[in-house]
This record gives sequence, C-alpha cells and structure tokens, in this order.
Amino acid sequence: MLKISPSILSADFANLGQEIQAIEKAGADYIHIDVMDGSFVPNITIGNEVVKSLRKISKLPYDVHLMVDNPDAHIKAFAEAGSDIITIHAEASTHLDRSIELIKSFGKKAGVSIVPSTSEDVLNYVLEKLDLILVMTVNPGFGGQKFLSSQLRKIENLRNKIEKCGKKIELEVDGGINDKTVKSVVDAGADVLVAGSFIFGSENYADAISKLRI
Ligand code: DX5
Ligand code: ZN
Repeated sequence: MLKISPSILSADFANLGQEIQAIEKAGADYIHIDVMDGSFVPNITIGNEVVKSLRKISKLPYDVHLMVDNPDAHIKAFAEAGSDIITIHAEASTHLDRSIELIKSFGKKAGVSIVPSTSEDVLNYVLEKLDLILVMTVNPGFGGQKFLSSQLRKIENLRNKIEKCGKKIELEVDGGINDKTVKSVVDAGADVLVAGSFIFGSENYADAISKLRI
C-alpha cells in the first residue's frame, strides 16, 4: 500500500507540534523531517534536539532525511532523538556501506538518498542492506520546487532492481509531488511519497493526502 510521508519543512514552524498532530489525524503514514546543514544543501533547518522534543507529539514513524555532510558524525544523535528511519545521502558519505551499518547498529531502519544528478547504480553494492531508497525529484535544499520528470526512469530502474533483489525495500520519492505529478511517480514504482508544500499549503490536510492516494 502507498504510504504518504508529509514533509514538515512546509509546516508552520511556530506550531510544529500541532502541525504534526494535524497531519497524523489527516491520515499520514510517516512524518518526514528534513534536516539541512547549510553545507551539503544551501539551507539550515531542524536539528536533533528538535526531533527529540517532537518525538513525544506523535506515534507515527519519524522518517528523518539527513541532508548533511559527514552524516556519520550525526547518526547517533538522530537515532537517540527517536528517529525510526534514518536516510543519508550517498553523495555525502565517503564509505556508504559503513554509514549504513552505523544506522543499523542503533536498531534503526537505514535509507540512502540520491540527488537528481546521481545514478542509481551507486546503490548496486549496498542495495541488499537497505530498508529504504529515497529518490530526490528536485535538487535538495528547499520545499516548493518543480518536479524533475527526468527522474522517472531512475525510479523505474530502482523498482526493477528491488524486485530482482527480492528484499523488502521501500522506494520513496521526494520533491515536487502534488496531485498532477503523483500518477507518474506511482506508475514508475514509488511506494512512499513525500509531499511538503502540496499538503501544508492546502486548506484541508486530509483532502490533500487523499488526493495523493491514487
Ligand atoms: C527538499 C526536501 C523535501 C521537500 C519537499 O530538499 O527534501 O522533503 O521539503 O517539498 P515539496 O513537496 O514542497 O517539494
Ligand atoms: Zn526530504
């Protein structure tokens, strides 16, 4: 079944706790938390202490997307803050296999994300260790950007690799997902959708989420 992971990057930061409770009530499956360090991406957002405080607010799995350089230095803090899935960027890790093992050593689900210019083949030798793959369909750093349809072929290729490998690996897509782009992404094989501006920019969160469940 398709899962929806609303990105709180587009939520009202003055009321994050209430926003998370509202999307939980509206039918979200995960809470997507975009962590940006101002170095790997040109923006600074949420740190581990905020995740720790927000942990008490919801029972949903916290899907933490680390857009940071040197992710190994931060994995422990985000694991202890109560993340359920920790996703790092292949481009930011020098020894990706080691970084994945580090996430797993804390008993967390391990995800790897790739930016639009990165080939899915960088995952070939770590695929079987992964719980989740996150395909970026915008260049990471900001919410509300335009969906890059060039990534659809990558999603299809990864769906095929996952089927071949036979392991249960979630294929998540992040960036520019809305009621217009969702069909192409689901047809290509995504099973977890991240959406920020589409959900939080709408009047009714439940309606927005149901429009993505095609
Ligand atoms: C981008 C983030 C996304 C972003 C999605 O760097 O990783 O999660 O918030 O926002 P929308 O859905 O507005 O593209
Ligand atoms: Zn994200």
